[in-house]
Amino acid sequence: MSGFIIALASDHAGFARKQAIIAYFRERGISFSDLGCFSDESCDYPEYGHAIAQAVSSGAYPFGITFCGTGQGISMTANKHPKIRSALCWKPEIARLARQHNDANICSIPGRFVTDREAIAIVDAFLDTSFEGGRHQRRIDKIPIASYKE
Ligand code: RB5
Repeated sequence: MSGFIIALASDHAGFARKQAIIAYFRERGISFSDLGCFSDESCDYPEYGHAIAQAVSSGAYPFGITFCGTGQGISMTANKHPKIRSALCWKPEIARLARQHNDANICSIPGRFVTDREAIAIVDAFLDTSFEGGRHQRRIDKIPIASYKE
């Protein structure tokens, strides 16, 4: 988990959970950049979903962790970016499989439906797990719309 910088982003509904992860990262000495939002004042998740997707796509960050109320909107937004595979992760096993099988580069957490403790366990599982490659790489290669033949 060490050696690289993790990007974080949320809307207002994910803000509190993101703060818990920031506190956890500080405690553990894990480097991160918070791309917003910066308060629990109402805002629009696509702004932060696009910002983190762009940042991860650029290669500046290997992984992003996102939060909104359900985890859905910010994940849907990020997945519009061709290099992004954002997975909605509501329990550690899902986060593990998102890395092992889908090589997810963004972990999207439903801030209103998990506790701080659960969010930490999800983030740990995501960051501690490697992609398995092999048959999973073949499947990932078929995700881009350009590879789909009707
Ligand atoms: C905000 O109320 C909520 O709609 C948003 O955080 C998210 O859950 C959308 O997918």
